[in-house]
Amino acid sequence: MTSPLRLGIAGLGTVGIGVVRIVQRHADILAVRSGREIRITAISARSRDKDRGVRLSDYAWEEDPVALAARDDVDVVIELMGGAEGAARDLVEAAIASGKDVVTANKAMLALHGQALAEAAEAAGHVIRFEAAVAGGIPVVKTLTEGLAGNEITRVMGVMNGTCNYILTRMEAAGLGYNALFEEAEKLGYLEADPNLDVGGIDAGHKLALLSAIAFGTRVNFDAMEIEGIQRITLDDIRQAADMGYKIKLLGVAQMSGRGLEQRMSPCLVPETSPLGQLDGGTNMVVIEGDSVGQIVLRGAGAGEGPTASAVMADVIDIARGTRMSTFGQPASGLKAVAGATGSVPAPYYLRMALLDKPGALARIAAALGDAGISIDRMRQYGHDDGTAPVLIVTHKTTRAAMDQAVGAMAGTGVLASEPVTIRIEAV
Ligand SMILES: NC(=O)c1ccc[n+]([C@@H]2O[C@H](COP(=O)([O-])OP(=O)(O)OC[C@H]3O[C@@H](n4cnc5c(N)ncnc54)[C@H](OP(=O)(O)O)[C@@H]3O)[C@@H](O)[C@H]2O)c1
Repeated sequence: MTSPLRLGIAGLGTVGIGVVRIVQRHADILAVRSGREIRITAISARSRDKDRGVRLSDYAWEEDPVALAARDDVDVVIELMGGAEGAARDLVEAAIASGKDVVTANKAMLALHGQALAEAAEAAGHVIRFEAAVAGGIPVVKTLTEGLAGNEITRVMGVMNGTCNYILTRMEAAGLGYNALFEEAEKLGYLEADPNLDVGGIDAGHKLALLSAIAFGTRVNFDAMEIEGIQRITLDDIRQAADMGYKIKLLGVAQMSGRGLEQRMSPCLVPETSPLGQLDGGTNMVVIEGDSVGQIVLRGAGAGEGPTASAVMADVIDIARGTRMSTFGQPASGLKAVAGATGSVPAPYYLRMALLDKPGALARIAAALGDAGISIDRMRQYGHDDGTAPVLIVTHKTTRAAMDQAVGAMAGTGVLASEPVTIRIEAV
């Protein structure tokens, strides 16, 4: 019988304890599937005395998580503390230097330092695996690196922050504004300690940066990502988008075009009948398009103890089986450095504004669009009791730059009662 695979776990919070539970509950299944026993030997967290609801007394305790890297009875270091810097990064660097494989759920660390960490691990002949870092329980890293390895990937899209999707779908269902739902999400414990990571699109942006690297064979380039959060989305935006047959999602899109690598994490409109449009609550969805496979849709829990620990264990089992995989699906030293795209692929846009009730107001707006080379696909004007007229316009495909030019010109028309809101409509 092959020797046991020995785990050192740093971080015993939601995900860490989930991993401990799976190892304890499914010892037999894991051993059969891996061909060897999977055993926890050492653990670390901040507080040794905290009651974590599972038996931990069989495992050696390290006050300093980085010390796990030096232990002779640890083969794989599992980093589940979080944070792009500090203990998490120190531990991963120390583990690689000490000749250990690493499994982590830490998207922030990998989005900022993944390239250097992957190169160091590969130079040392070790692996860093991170299935749990992207879309929790959805096996999207495995899908891209293995199931779709024979494809040229043309586009990756996803709703990858459950908290934002919860807020947006609850706004519509409850008829409440963004602030009320932000408070509700906070009370339910759905927000990160720094809520901007969620509602500002940064957390989802980290995940998209990792998927982009795998999908397009490019160096992780989080800095080149265009990021906009959901903070400015109003109930009116949601309701009026619904009137035109759309849902608003915080959507990540990565695609390679002649303009370079486009990576966007921003509110977008998607058809309400599409799989992305029908995604309610905290669930995640990743849509991948490849030249041979066409489009595939993966859906599931993007966070939580069980789903995230499930993804960690998939990586652990791969290591136990001897399946070695480069961090980003190909050697990190060969990943291409590509510039961020100059401008985005043209798309239709949704435009919402209120006009003053003046003769010729609508004609001036249409002229501003026409002057920027934008043609109108559909338009709707609402009843007005207060001297203003809400107007919704869906344009034909255009560029962000042309939309900005048109909106700039509208400001000088003297017919606007509110600042125009523009949201890209993503073809899904
Ligand atoms: N929660 C999810 O659903 C989810 C989903 C996907 C990915 N992730 C990622 O998984 C990682 C862990 O998330 P989590 O939700 O499990 O976090 P968590 O519940 O806050 O747990 C963090 C754990 O790390 C320990 N820790 C933090 N800083 C430490 C330090 N400097 N030294 C030693 N121990 C330290 C904490 O110790 P104490 O308990 O003693 O305070 C705690 O046990 C993060 O990278 C996160 O982004 C989480």
